[in-house]
Amino acid sequence: MRVAVMGAMPEEIEPLLDAVGEYESVTYADNRYYLANYQGLELVIAYSKIGKVFSTLTATTLIEKFGTDTLLFSGVAGAINDRLKIGDLIVATKLVQHDLDITAFGHPYGFVPEGKVFIESDARLLAVAKEVAQELKKPLYEGIIATGDQFIADPQRKEWIAQTFEADALEMEGASVALVCDALDVPFCILRSISDAADMDAGFDFDTFLKSSAKESADFILKMLDRLAS
Ligand code: ADE
Repeated sequence: MRVAVMGAMPEEIEPLLDAVGEYESVTYADNRYYLANYQGLELVIAYSKIGKVFSTLTATTLIEKFGTDTLLFSGVAGAINDRLKIGDLIVATKLVQHDLDITAFGHPYGFVPEGKVFIESDARLLAVAKEVAQELKKPLYEGIIATGDQFIADPQRKEWIAQTFEADALEMEGASVALVCDALDVPFCILRSISDAADMDAGFDFDTFLKSSAKESADFILKMLDRLAS
């Protein structure tokens, strides 16, 4: 198995690189890819930089250039659902681009041209995530993640995303990574730990909790890798 493990920011992959210990670094398309062996799995780890365009490039590169056959995403998100508190984990059941708007042509918000609104996560990887949560006795929220090229620190925009897509959390890469994996037939799992509530305090909270929440997510991903290896 050759598994892509990606994040969007350095803080999101640093705990993974620390855990694998030794790795080879390859530069490609203006980004670095870290090749490592972990529990018999071949891993390719990378952070894309923030946003849908970079994450599309990185996910595609991980699959097409590095030949990965499974993709796990680890990172942080803003909470929409009030039940989600800072540090809580959410795994996406499906994902949507909240800022994709061709409603002028009669399509619903988030509609992907020649496609659909939501992209569903891989059932087997979702099951693995649930098994890990049980093993760790850790709450794992399953829900809809909305993605867009906007850092949301605005209660009104947050409410609009909540109402329009019934989304539980939001971030800036998941749905674009999902689209790439769906198109290339690669099973994927998007895991996030909450860093803020996408409200007026979001900028401050994000800076405060990025590292600790990113580690929560990365530690969980490592446990998923343990299971995939066994
Ligand atoms: N990732 C983490 N918090 C976020 C927010 N408030 N908006 C967009 N992406 C995020």
